[in-house]
Amino acid sequence: MNWDNSARYAAWNGEISNRKAKEAVGRQIAEHVKDGAVLGVGSGSTAYLAITAIAERVRREKLRVSAVCTSSEVSLACAANGIPVTSLLQAQPDWYFDGADEVDPGHNLIKGRGGAMYMEKVMMSAAPKTYILVDHSKIVEKLGGKFPIPVEFSPVTLHVVERELVKIGAVDITLRMAVKKDGPVITENGNFILDVKFAEIRPTLETEIKTITGVIESGLFMGRAIEVILPEVVLPAE
Ligand code: A5P
Repeated sequence: MNWDNSARYAAWNGEISNRKAKEAVGRQIAEHVKDGAVLGVGSGSTAYLAITAIAERVRREKLRVSAVCTSSEVSLACAANGIPVTSLLQAQPDWYFDGADEVDPGHNLIKGRGGAMYMEKVMMSAAPKTYILVDHSKIVEKLGGKFPIPVEFSPVTLHVVERELVKIGAVDITLRMAVKKDGPVITENGNFILDVKFAEIRPTLETEIKTITGVIESGLFMGRAIEVILPEVVLPAE
């Protein structure tokens, strides 16, 4: 039986920068969807707009599609769009799509502005193919110029993790604070996030961060086999 109460939540609640470009890549990825597909769904505004475009195709062409989601944010977006949600316990995604905060020429990434990098990394490992959807503002020469690296860690290890991050070259460390809740952001896994700037992002840094006791995952994605999708049409600045 379907719920008959109307949803009282917004599937996306923030501003969306470069919206037209994000909608354009969303439509491009929607064209990849085949009947019967299990989709790995990333988080953030680009993934949200892609789900919206996919849902339009699903409705128009009566496709059967299900989604494995990286956060409650996109689970709500899928539910609001009538896309059934499953889990990694039930299904392997045929492919995974997501946004990114920064992409360098080697397709290394910073992700996790939305705090979902743990499941995003899990999904990238679970799916045989990953598409990263970005507008041109995300393309950088060197990682770390615009965005810090988010590091999710077990709350009790705050000072241990901070100390070890400094040892491997962290120059600025900020505990991510919540909006509309007092205190720190609490991730979907019950952890905290440090936003960390490094003077230099070397190829081994992802592993160096990951090996710190207390760290769950970081938003640094080095050397992954991914396909980067940009809007095919260069759109005027908004
Ligand atoms: C979510 O945790 C992030 O990894 C997002 O995928 C990333 O921050 C890109 O976000 P936008 O698509 O909103 O720019």
